[in-house]
Amino acid sequence: MSAVIEFQNVSFRYNEEKDILKNISLTIEKGDFVAVLGHNGSGKSTLAKHINAILLPSEGKVSVDGLDTSDDNNLAAIRRKAGMVFQNPDNQIIATVVEEDVAFALENLGVPREEMVRRVDESLNAVGMIEFKKHATTKLSGGQKQRIAIAGVIAMRPDIIVFDEPTAMLDPQGREDVVNITKKLNEQGITVIYITHYMEEAAQAKRVVVLNDGEILIDGTPHYVFQNAGLLTSVGLDVPQSTSLMFLLRNHGIKVPLAVLNEEECISVLTDLLNTKESINGSDFKG
Ligand SMILES: Nc1ncnc2c1ncn2[C@@H]1O[C@H](COP(=O)(O)OP(=O)(O)O)[C@@H](O)[C@H]1O
Ligand SMILES: [Mg+2]
Repeated sequence: MSAVIEFQNVSFRYNEEKDILKNISLTIEKGDFVAVLGHNGSGKSTLAKHINAILLPSEGKVSVDGLDTSDDNNLAAIRRKAGMVFQNPDNQIIATVVEEDVAFALENLGVPREEMVRRVDESLNAVGMIEFKKHATTKLSGGQKQRIAIAGVIAMRPDIIVFDEPTAMLDPQGREDVVNITKKLNEQGITVIYITHYMEEAAQAKRVVVLNDGEILIDGTPHYVFQNAGLLTSVGLDVPQSTSLMFLLRNHGIKVPLAVLNEEECISVLTDLLNTKESINGSDFKG
């Protein structure tokens, strides 16, 4: 794998008062799916905005596909490579008709009409919203609006998409749709940076980076990160419910693996546990 995003000793401050990012070094490989966790104010959005050069480091260097974000000449190329999806779908919808909204950025880029139509259809299909093509954007649900916002980004054919808490304002169905679309895009080769405060969503990533007060607290696979429940709770973060249940069982002296991230894994561990108990009880009974 090759690096597609590189933070080299990046510090950032909005004003002289405080460093919001503190000497961050982070390499993200092409095709990865990286969840970024951290409580409010830990610097997640600030970090995200460095990826497409909305913000530039106060110290250090960020490069995207080898392009230095602080070089003005790279700006257009970087913005085309790295798309962003934000929390509030209402702030991202510009046009009154769905297809026009998805086409908006393409039109600005001067993409020829036929190519534009093709890309709009392709993008709406990718988010399962093709039948809403001619619909009014104002009539859509939050989840549908967020899917349209994602389609607008996909239409740009980015290599990287940064999602900044894309499900925070959605209902459970909308959340599930967005997560599934994200995973599908990653399977198709798009590098995904996914900021969330839902542990269950982060558990589905390939890598989890936890930010705390502008620094990387822990970084690794979901299994590795969530096994460090003590460290996470010490900074006010949770672990997925299934992981939490395993820790409770452990505390009661029941030997279960801690690396349990979702309901399926949890059910499998509990079923094994019950079967073992039954066979022990069974042999007791016979004996
Ligand atoms: N435009 C800004 N000007 C000054 N301070 C800001 C600005 N945006 C964010 N901050 C501060 O930077 C810190 C990190 O914010 P942010 O990156 O939005 O965190 P997160 O996304 O993890 O909640 C917070 O303390 C916030 O108040
Ligand atoms: Mg934020």
